[in-house]
Amino acid sequence: MPDSHTHLDFVGGDPGGQIEAAAAVGVDRLVQVGVDVDTSRWSVELAEQHASVVAAVALHPNDAPRQADLDEALRQIEALAAHPRVRAVGETGLDYFRTGEDGRAAQEESFRAHIAIAKRYNLTLMIHDRDAHADVLRVLDEEGPPERVMMHCFSGDREFALDCVKRGFLLSFAGTVTFANARAVREAATVTPLESMLVETDAPFLTPTPYRGRPNAPYLIPLTVRALADLTGADLAEVCTAISANAERLFGPWSP
Ligand code: NI
Repeated sequence: MPDSHTHLDFVGGDPGGQIEAAAAVGVDRLVQVGVDVDTSRWSVELAEQHASVVAAVALHPNDAPRQADLDEALRQIEALAAHPRVRAVGETGLDYFRTGEDGRAAQEESFRAHIAIAKRYNLTLMIHDRDAHADVLRVLDEEGPPERVMMHCFSGDREFALDCVKRGFLLSFAGTVTFANARAVREAATVTPLESMLVETDAPFLTPTPYRGRPNAPYLIPLTVRALADLTGADLAEVCTAISANAERLFGPWSP
């Protein structure tokens, strides 16, 4: 099982230990995600050192408006995107929860630039969308999406899920699908076909039930996968096979 979106640098400690703990429970492939130039570079270096890790590089939508020189930061992200261990451009997108009106122009400019980089390097676009569903789709429609798009930590409802599936996007579900009070996103999972589904931790955030309160890490992916099997009514092995194949299609192969 792959973890399609994790931040081992934020989890802290020895990333090698986290990678081993994950492999011990069958989570044998990770996508390590950068949120600015420094963490993107760190992600590429980790992917160079571990065959089970590939990298995603980007300026996070909340970081984009804080760049002293956005153009220069985007140039550095683009330089990293050319690295063979980089398989996705992300996380990028729109976040209207943490970024106010004053930062939105820079955020959207950065999102458009990341879409262009994903297309130039034929990489998967990994989208962060917080309280911005309609505008994320608007910008993608205006720019024309790259061939492969993943909605990271899918947070929409049933209708938005169907909208994304119709466009050929993959929906990546995080620990939130294990939360009893996350009704909308749990319903979204029930209408998502297995061939459009991915799973992620977004570690160290969004720890699945029943371990909420401790930091999340890739070894906890099995809890989220079981929740997806319960919600969809699909056989657990079938869910694992589908998600693994989807991740290879988007990010793979992991091993040279
Ligand atoms: Ni993230």
